[in-house]
This record gives sequence, C-alpha cells and structure tokens, in this order.
Amino acid sequence: MKISEADEKLEVILNQLYDAKEAANIQKIFWTDIFNYKGGINRTLHTQEIAVFNEAIEKLAKNFPIQYVTGVAYFYDLKLFVDENVLIPRPETEELVHLFLNETRFEKKLKVLDVGTGSGCIPIIIKNKRSDYTCVAIDISKAALAVAQNNAERHELKIDFRVCDFLDASAWSSFENFDAIISNPPYIGQDEKTKMTSSTLLFEPHQALFPEDDDVLIFYKKVADFGLQKLNEGGMIFLECNEFNAQEVKEIFQRKGYVSIEIIRDMQEKDRMILASKAS
Ligand SMILES: C[S@@+](CC[C@H](N)C(=O)[O-])C[C@H]1O[C@@H](n2cnc3c(N)ncnc32)[C@H](O)[C@@H]1O
Repeated sequence: MKISEADEKLEVILNQLYDAKEAANIQKIFWTDIFNYKGGINRTLHTQEIAVFNEAIEKLAKNFPIQYVTGVAYFYDLKLFVDENVLIPRPETEELVHLFLNETRFEKKLKVLDVGTGSGCIPIIIKNKRSDYTCVAIDISKAALAVAQNNAERHELKIDFRVCDFLDASAWSSFENFDAIISNPPYIGQDEKTKMTSSTLLFEPHQALFPEDDDVLIFYKKVADFGLQKLNEGGMIFLECNEFNAQEVKEIFQRKGYVSIEIIRDMQEKDRMILASKAS
C-alpha cells in the first residue's frame, strides 16, 4: 500500500469523526508522530508499517484520542509519552505552569510539590526550565507514575516521584516541607459528563477526571490543609480549577487564613487558576 492510499483511508475515517479542521490536524499528527513522515515521497509502506497503520486506524475509528494512538502529547515546549494510564495534558495546564514559572522567576532553589502528576507534565517542565528547583511529584496511580518516570528519564530530569493517596491525611507526615505546591487535581462533577467528548469519557482515566464521592472541592480543601502543615511561611500555591467554582475554591483558602489569593483567567477568559500564599 502506498502512503497516498493509506492517507485516503485515514481521511475517510477522520472525516466521519471530526470536523474538517480537526480531521486535517489529526491526519498531519498521525503521519508525523507514528511514521515520522512529513510528506514528500509517496513511498510504499512495508509489511510492518501496514500492521501499525491498520492497528492505529482501528483505534481511531473507535474514538481513541489521537495522543493515545501515537503515544505522543506536546506540552509547553516538550514532547511527552502518554498512554491510557494518564490524562492527556491540556493547554489550560500549560497556562498554570507558565503562571508558576513567571511568579517564581526571582526565586532560587525552591522545593516544589506537584499533587496528581499524571504524565509528569508539570514537574517536567518546571525542572526543565528551573534546574535549581527540587521537584517532588505524587500520584495515587502507580501506572501513571511509571509514565511520568519514563518521561522524566527521556528528558534526563531528576524528579522524585512518589505513590501517595493525597486524600489520606495520615500519609502527609512522611512529607518534608515545601516552598510551593502546584496541582491540576481531579475536579469534574458527574453532572458535567454530558458535556464531555465520548473519547475523553471512554478512554481517559476517570480517576484523573472525577473526584471521589463527586466532591469537586475535596482536593482544594486537602491542599489547603496540607499547606498549613507542610508549606513554608510565604510559600505559594498554584491550582487549576473548574471555571464554575473558582470563587468557592478562593473562599476555601480565605477561610484557612491564606493571603494574596487571586483567581486568574486563562486565554479563553475563563476563571481557571487560583494563586494563594501562606502568610509569613
Ligand atoms: C487532572 S489529572 C492531572 C494530571 C497531570 N498533572 C496533568 O495536568 O495533565 C489528576 C491526577 O490526580 C491523580 N489522583 C487522583 N486521585 C488522587 C489521590 N487521591 N491522590 C493522589 N493523586 C490522585 C490522578 O491519578 C491523576 O493523575
């Protein structure tokens, strides 16, 4: 099979699933990320490649997110490996990392904790930009941590990954103190399922999306409590949140005595990030 024939087959499938713009985008990513093919020569795919092609289009036809088919997600300025054990990193989270890097630009040697690290996207960018910072990253999922560790090794970054159920406060005593906490926790309510794409609902890990017992604020309350115990004075907290409950998240931190609490809008003008500091 020639590449042009395979491409036509791919195009038919994608056009059934996506609008024209997204289909064209996925088509391009497909050839670059799976076959490292950027166009030009209409060569014949060899047997092994045809097997890879067939498997990939079968997955796409079933609505698998393209990132799980290619195993590649782009985050900030790095290429990361992803599979179905981790959430596909989102552009909003790139904005959270950007905010963190900007707010801490005059700091030195911070000790940072990432809660719910998934693919490791957050500490990987932080460590890549700030080699003087120490990053600890936790997740309840061992399979997610294996992906995160793999990503850190690919980029030759030293990050301390630990398995931990963050909602179990009895586990906190084993942690040292931190200068900053960052997190994109599970925050989607069950009532939002109807607005989500079927590819996310079917294939992304529900543990990464939906908080336990449908308590959409639980991770924010726990981060606030953890910070009271383990954040150094003047330490900062950076959190991604649901655009619909940023105000409630802000009030959690106000009630716990945090200062300089801000709701920050993302590029879509949605209330997406919360910044808070521990009084010094
Ligand atoms: C929204 S995902 C964020 C992943 C990654 N930081 C990102 O931004 O793409 C939330 C992560 O929290 C983890 N998680 C869920 N419950 C947890 C818990 N009780 N303790 C620690 N991590 C948890 C999930 O496994 C998932 O990797």
